[in-house]
Amino acid sequence: MKGYDLVIRNGTVVTASDTTICDIGIRDGRIVALGESLGAGKEEIEASGHYVLPGGVDAHCHFDQPSGPGIQMADDFETGTRSAACGGTTTVIPFAAQQKGDTLRATVEDYHRRADGNACVDYAFHLIVSDATPLVLKEELPSLIEEGYTSFKIYMTYDDLKLNDREILETLAVARQEGAMTMIHAENADCIAWLSDALEAAGQTAPRFHATSRPPVVEREATHRAISFAELVDTPVLIVHVSGQEPIEQIRWAQGRGLRIYAETCPQYLFLTADDLKLDGFEGAKCVCSPPPRDARSQEAVWEALENGVFQIFSSDHAPFRYEDAEGKKSAEGKSFKHIPNGIPGVETRLPLLFSEGVLKGRIDITKFVALTSTNPARIYGLYPRKGTLAVGSDADIVIWDPTLEWTITNDRLHHNVDYTPYSGMTLTGKPITTLLRGQVVWKENIFIGGPGGGCFLPCERPQPAMPKGVSKGF
Ligand code: URP
Ligand code: ZN
Ligand code: ZN
Repeated sequence: MKGYDLVIRNGTVVTASDTTICDIGIRDGRIVALGESLGAGKEEIEASGHYVLPGGVDAHCHFDQPSGPGIQMADDFETGTRSAACGGTTTVIPFAAQQKGDTLRATVEDYHRRADGNACVDYAFHLIVSDATPLVLKEELPSLIEEGYTSFKIYMTYDDLKLNDREILETLAVARQEGAMTMIHAENADCIAWLSDALEAAGQTAPRFHATSRPPVVEREATHRAISFAELVDTPVLIVHVSGQEPIEQIRWAQGRGLRIYAETCPQYLFLTADDLKLDGFEGAKCVCSPPPRDARSQEAVWEALENGVFQIFSSDHAPFRYEDAEGKKSAEGKSFKHIPNGIPGVETRLPLLFSEGVLKGRIDITKFVALTSTNPARIYGLYPRKGTLAVGSDADIVIWDPTLEWTITNDRLHHNVDYTPYSGMTLTGKPITTLLRGQVVWKENIFIGGPGGGCFLPCERPQPAMPKGVSKGF
C-alpha cells in the first residue's frame, strides 16, 4: 500500500450533500482516501476548526477578451487566475469569444494561445457564438463540442454579438442535436437601443442612465423569449447573470412546467443596486454591468431564489476593466453611458461574499454553498466528478476555509489587475486560508505561491445525463 503525499487532517469536509469530520489522503494530485485516522502523509495539514471544501468552479468569467477598439481588459489569464486561486477558486470557465467574421476554430486557437502557459488554475472554455454561419452551425460547433467545448453562450443584445431570433433557434437546434448546453444573455436589444436613444436625446448620459436604459422588463421579456425558444426546440438552456425578481418569476414558472431551464446569478445582484451607479462624477461607471444591479427588493428575490433552487449556479461574471485607464472605464468619460465598457471584477470576492452574507447569515447552508459555487457548475458543464467534489478519484482541488476570520475588502488585498473593487469597505467573516490545485498549495496564509503554467486545460464532457427534466429543486 503506497502512502500519501499529503494528508489533510480533522477538517469539516463539505460536499454538496454532506458535512463530515474526517481526513483526506492525497496522492499524485488526486484524492485517494477519505476516512478517520488515515496513515501518515509525507506532508500533513491540520484543519480542525476549518471547513475543507472542493475548490471553487467559477463558470462565468472573462479574461483577456477582445472588447472593442481602444478597450483592454485588465486581467489576462495569469492575473485573472491568480486572483481566482487567492479567492478559493481552482477551476475557471472563461469564454472563447467569436468576433463576427472569424471562424470558431480560429477563435478557440487564439484563446488557447492566450491561456497556454499563463493560467494559474485549471480552465475550460465556453464558446461565444456571435456569427451563426452555416460553417459554424453545420461543421465547427459539432466538431468543437465533440472535442470538449460543450457549452456556448449566445447574446440577445450588444450589436457586435447578438443573434436574431431565427439564428438563436438554429443555434439551439445544434445544441439539441449535439447535446451541448446553451447559455443565454437575455436582454432585449431593440428595447435598450430605443431607450438609450431617448435618454441621449434628453442629455441623460451619466453612468446611472445605463440602468435606466436596461430596466427589468427588458430582461424579463428576453428571458421569457429564451425560455420559449428552449421549449420549442426542446433543449436545455441556462440563463446567465439573472439580476432580479422579474426574470426569476419567468424562470420559476418555466421550471414549474418541467422545462429544463437552468439559471445563474452573480454577486453584483446581491450586493449592489442601481444606486451604486449614481456615485459622484463618473465613479458610477465602476458598477456598470449588464444586466445592471437593481434594487433592494430584487436583492431579496435573488437570495430567495438561491435558497429555493431556482438558481443552480453562482458565478462571478468577472469582466475586468480598470477605472483610471483610457483603455478602461475612463475611455467613456465625457461620452454617453453607452460607451462604458460593461463589467465589474469579482473572481476573488465571489466565495467570501456568499459565505459571509449567505452561510453565516443563515440564508443558505454550507452544502448549498458548495453546490452553487462548485458542484453544480462542474456537473452542468461536464467537469464532474473530476472537479466540483471531494471524492476518491477527484482532483485534489481543495480549499481550507477559516469560518471565523474577519476581514475588510480593500483593493490592495486582492490579486487581480483591476484598480478598484466595487465591494471595497465591506467587512466579511470567513476566508480561504489555503488553496490546493491538484494537491499543490497555491495560496497559503495570504501569500500566492502558485504561478503561470500551473493550470491546465480541461476538455468538458457533455452536460451530465443525470440532469433532471424539471429542476424546481435544483440538483
Ligand atoms: O456587463 C457584463 N456582464 N459584462 C460581461 C459580458 C457579459 O455579458 O457577460
Ligand atoms: Zn452576458
Ligand atoms: Zn459575462
